[in-house]
This record gives sequence, structure tokens and C-alpha cells, in this order.
Amino acid sequence: SATMLAACMFTSASAKDLVVGFSQIGSESGWRAAETTLTKQEAKKRGIDLKFADAQQKQENQIKAIRSFIAQGVDAILLAPVVETGWDAVLKEAKEAKIPVILLDRTVAAPKDLYLTAVTSDLIHEGKVAGDWLVKTVGDKKCNIVELQGTTGSSPAIARKKGFEEAIKGHDNLKIVRSQTGDFTRAKGKEVMESFLKAENGGKDICALYAHNDDMAVGAIQAIKEAGLKPGKDILTVSIDSVPDLFKAMAAGEANATVELTPNMAGPAFDALDAYLKTKKEPPKWIQTESKLYTQADDPQKVYEQKKDLGY
Ligand code: AHR
Repeated sequence: SATMLAACMFTSASAKDLVVGFSQIGSESGWRAAETTLTKQEAKKRGIDLKFADAQQKQENQIKAIRSFIAQGVDAILLAPVVETGWDAVLKEAKEAKIPVILLDRTVAAPKDLYLTAVTSDLIHEGKVAGDWLVKTVGDKKCNIVELQGTTGSSPAIARKKGFEEAIKGHDNLKIVRSQTGDFTRAKGKEVMESFLKAENGGKDICALYAHNDDMAVGAIQAIKEAGLKPGKDILTVSIDSVPDLFKAMAAGEANATVELTPNMAGPAFDALDAYLKTKKEPPKWIQTESKLYTQADDPQKVYEQKKDLGY
């Protein structure tokens, strides 16, 4: 009957009718900017009405945005959580309002039933891949490492540190001599690297830089050059993200390795949401994206050309 048909049409709401709130961290890195661009593109492609909120790196702004999404009665919420802790209360509010929350690119230390799924890479593995590359590259040589950490308390900063330390453990010739946050930004990466260089004999006592993201590495590379040393040669670099600018640096011989993180977390997130709304079957709690190591052997100029228009 006509009523049944109407009822059917309402229960099988397509992505077209969906309103989704997206609480983004900010725009601290090239990778983050690309994630924002691609999330908007993916939403548009699917006819989703995306409500975008930029939190300017502040958790309190994210919590406010989520509460506002709940008040507006959105169908779902995407959350890229700036730090790992402090989410339980607001996630409970979303759950009580029956609004599924999907985490993007970072994890939280909250009970798993408070979110639908998390689309992230294996953040510990990324650090491990970076560390393994350095172990292999330096061989038996003594190597003093400086580390630029991501935002304090963020899951990638915690996990990437852990994974890297696991990789170099037992290799006594490799040692982290300095480690400080550069907040995932280019400017902070440069500033902190300048202080590392000063503290380590103008940089002569540093063998390698490990940066939790490419933007900090790009800033640090600039600092190394200004100190009169050759990045990529005098000081090896390994970082995470695989943004176009890092490939530019690699092509110029000024960077050595990067672990790729896809900025398209929204594609798999919307797929999972769509399937969940249709079937009511919960997706797995973790939708893992790939991590791939790139080195100077991978034709960085070509990768740069391929990447530069992909939302960065
Ligand atoms: O959570 C992912 C990290 O956040 C990216 O590696 C970094 O560039 C961003 O700021």
C-alpha cells in the first residue's frame, strides 16, 4: 500500500538525507588540511549535509561542537579527537541521544561502546616502521637521535613514540638524546629543532631526526640548513604522513623517509555509517588504514607530482 511504501522509504533513508557533524581538530598540518578537504568532498559526493566545526586545537571547543550537534539532532558525528582522554561524558551524551560517533585518525581512552567505530592507522606500527628503517639504515654506526613529538596527550604522539622506541630497543648504538613536542606544526618543528641543534654541538652530534609528522620535519629541515648542515646527509630524517612537501624535500635529497597516512578517513567512515544505518549491524570497532614506507628509492619527484593535487 501507499502507506507501506512511504514507511519503507522512511526506514531506508539513503546517505542523501543524512546530516553529519564533523568536529575537526584544526589545521595544524598539511595532512590535517587534506583530511578536511577530502571529508568535505566525500560528503558532497554522497549527498551528505556536513556540519563542519574547527576546534582550533582545543578539546573544550570539540566538546562544545559535539553538544551543539546533539542539540541539532544530527544523524551521526565524526570526531577527530585532539587528545586521548576526557571524552567519556560527551560520548555518553551522544549515545543517550542515539547518535553514532565515528572517530577519525586518532583514538580515545574511553569505553568502546561509546563510539561506533574508529577509522585510524596502526599508530604504534607507524612509529615502529620509522624506527626499523633507521635501525637498518645506520647499521652498526653510533647514532644520536632527536625526536619531535606530536601534540602532547594525543594518541599519535603517544603511540608513535612507543613504536619507535620498541624498534630501536636492543640496538645500543641508537639513542634518543633529545625529545620534545613540536605540536605537529611546521613553525614549532623549526623552533624546537633550532634548540636541539644548539644543545648538540651545533648539530654535529646529531645523526638523525625522528619527527611524528612531516610538517615538523619540514620545519626542522629548514633549521638544519640554516645551521649550515645538510639535512638528509649530515642529519638523516624519518617522519610520518607522506605529504607532498616532504616528497619535494626527498627529491632534493634533504629528507630520507616517510610513512604514509591516508588523509581519506572519511570514505571508509561514511561507508561504515551507511551500512550500519541500513542493517543496524555494528561495524568492527577498528577500521584500519594502511601504512606504507617511502624512501628516496621510490622516485620522490614522481610521488610528489601524483600527490600534490589530492586535497593537500
Ligand atoms: O592524527 C594524525 C596526525 O595529526 C597527523 O600525522 C598529523 O600531521 C596531524 O596533525
